Amino acid sequence: MDEQIKAMQAEIEAAAASITDSKEMYLLRKQYLDNKTGKISALMKNMRDLPPEERPAFGKVVNVLKGWALDFFTEQDARLKAIELAQKNAAEQIDVTMPASKHLCGALHPQTLIANELIDIFAGMGFTIFEGPEIENDYYNFTALNTPQDHPARDMQDTFYVSEEFLLRTQTSAGQIRVMENAQPPIKILSPGKVFRSDDDATHSPMFSQMEGLVVDKGITLCDLQGMLDVFAQNIFGENVKTRLRPSYFPFTEPSVEVDVSCFACGGKGCRLCKDTGWIEVLGAGMVNRHVLENCGVDPDVYTGFAFGMGIERIAMLKYGIPNIKMLFESDVRVLEQFRG
Ligand code: PHE
Repeated sequence: MDEQIKAMQAEIEAAAASITDSKEMYLLRKQYLDNKTGKISALMKNMRDLPPEERPAFGKVVNVLKGWALDFFTEQDARLKAIELAQKNAAEQIDVTMPASKHLCGALHPQTLIANELIDIFAGMGFTIFEGPEIENDYYNFTALNTPQDHPARDMQDTFYVSEEFLLRTQTSAGQIRVMENAQPPIKILSPGKVFRSDDDATHSPMFSQMEGLVVDKGITLCDLQGMLDVFAQNIFGENVKTRLRPSYFPFTEPSVEVDVSCFACGGKGCRLCKDTGWIEVLGAGMVNRHVLENCGVDPDVYTGFAFGMGIERIAMLKYGIPNIKMLFESDVRVLEQFRG
């Protein structure tokens, strides 16, 4: 009897000696201790075959074996799990003093930065956004803007025609007509978008972007325009910047003005940026011509309005000191990475 027990202990110890994995040890444990199929449980069942007087002694011995086996496997399990944890920790060790790997991340294009800034400034003054189509017909781009066929002002902008009737818009002013045709004053819209002209040098590109503004209501005057332009100029170029209106001509505004800002580089004393004049031209504007209001069904005896239009690339070039408009279209990372915030 005792031999049988000793043999089973030895058998368990021998089998366990070659096991290095806690899962395998668990399987070995089951082979002996599983309630239904375990070899030690089987010994208990064998008790039925013994004469009744031998059963208590046998039961005791098997219980001792069972107790020993339970302790043995608990110990083995703890030992192997400790080794496994140590191995896992060693494998996962990280060196917190290693230099971090660099993740290059993108940034907004200077053109987008300026457009967003402009939209923020004008949205703050109550303007809402209107986006017109890039392909326009002659009526919206010229005729309704008081520039009929054969009007000399058509030569101010060299136009790309798509067909007899359709063209690539030369100015976001076309959107003024679309807005006023569809809404009665008060109107206060900002219209950003691409425009196209056959023009190409260091400061002009056949495709560029404009930001148009239009305000129409009762009692709007040129003073309202200048007040709003001051807010725009001070936000974009700096607190101390002043604006100046110079007489100009656009067929769709009367009077028309060119808007200058005092040079933010030299404070108006005169420098290379302002070509020693102290002033920098930034946009065209004026009071909406009464013919334009009439063309859109807005009564010019009741309502007045102002409009302005600026080149977004021009503002970006001035603000960031970009010498050539092409730099805004080339996507050269050496230029763009200077705008990473
Ligand atoms: N559309 C004009 C241009 O492209 C700018 C402008 C807009 C002038 C609105 C006056 C009023 O040059």
